[in-house]
Amino acid sequence: MIKLDRRKFLLGSAATLAAGSSASALPASKLAQRHQGYGAAATLWDLQADPRLGEAISTYCTQVVPVLELKWPMLRPDAHTFAFERADAIYDFAQKNDLTMRGHTLAWYHDIPDWTKQIKDSKAVERAYVDHISTVVSYYKDKLTSWDVVNEPIPDNPRDVKDRRDTFWTQHLGSSWIPLAFRTAAAADPYVKLAINEYDIESAKDSFIAKRAAYRNLIMELLDQGVPLHAVGLQSHLHAELEIDTHGLAEFVTEIRSWGLEVYVTELDVNDEKLTGSPTERDAIVAKRVNDLLTAIWTSGPVRSILSWGISDRYSWINGYVKRPDKQPNRPLPLDGEFKPKPLMDVISKFTKDV
Ligand code: G3I
Repeated sequence: MIKLDRRKFLLGSAATLAAGSSASALPASKLAQRHQGYGAAATLWDLQADPRLGEAISTYCTQVVPVLELKWPMLRPDAHTFAFERADAIYDFAQKNDLTMRGHTLAWYHDIPDWTKQIKDSKAVERAYVDHISTVVSYYKDKLTSWDVVNEPIPDNPRDVKDRRDTFWTQHLGSSWIPLAFRTAAAADPYVKLAINEYDIESAKDSFIAKRAAYRNLIMELLDQGVPLHAVGLQSHLHAELEIDTHGLAEFVTEIRSWGLEVYVTELDVNDEKLTGSPTERDAIVAKRVNDLLTAIWTSGPVRSILSWGISDRYSWINGYVKRPDKQPNRPLPLDGEFKPKPLMDVISKFTKDV
């Protein structure tokens, strides 16, 4: 059970967060300047540590998504605990800033707690899996716009291996891990939009094109099975040195939409580690990649949900993940390290205007 003192502490910090960034009744002028359908990911740690982050999200965004707080490691410290307080604190921040929130993620090959991986009996694994999804989705029923139900099911080189990633879940549940997750989530909340989510399907590179084909085939198979799938997430962790496969991506999105599915950009950022040139020159290439991405998606209709994985370069996972040869920080996000807008924010503004 959630210990009240911990929950009270964190919810108290949520009130501090909200007060720090802005009062609950936001002035209409502030709401009017937001980019409709644009959101950003954040961790509670960063929101608590830097009021500028909450202020930036409240200024530019209409949605927030927790980076960590709805994943197994944070939610499930052990088999008997659902620690919702951190995600609740972000949800309270969203509420007080007139932001919606989406959920990330229920079933993923990564971030599985040790106690779960120590379960040997497959029936017990299934019970833990269904119990997690059912409990978490029920708890947030009517509160979230959508869930990334299944994250990254396609291997990085599908042509070399079978089309599905081999995971702890497939070892115990076989290929049913994907339909089971969606059906369990839909039973817990029949109204929240349920999405599947994948990366490295946007740029023009052989393995990305193969991955996109495998993603398409999986989505078609799930729809044929009557799985309650409503949206397809393009994570869009772009590589600045790679062109976007505008034609192939436009074709993919057009077909997905023809199947009645929504398309979300769920984790937008642009890794510029391989770019040389000045920050200004790098920023221009980063903005072009996103412009090409959104142009390709737009060929079949507006992009109604664009989330970046962070909003300021100061708080990006990329700077912890890769180091540029020139030791300069990466510049992957719409705001620089001092929360100043970059050309990428203009691109987001262009594609969210009048959506
Ligand atoms: O900050 C703590 C540190 O205090 C602690 O000592 C350490 C112990 O392991 O953990 C640190 O937390 C790390 C956390 O990021 C905050 O930086 C976790 O270890 C680390 O696993 C976690 O990584 C996150 C990763 O997902 C796994 O959940 C990244 O921040 C996050 O950006 C990344 O996001 C993923 C999406 O969920 C799915 N798509 C790809 C995307 C980028 O990898």
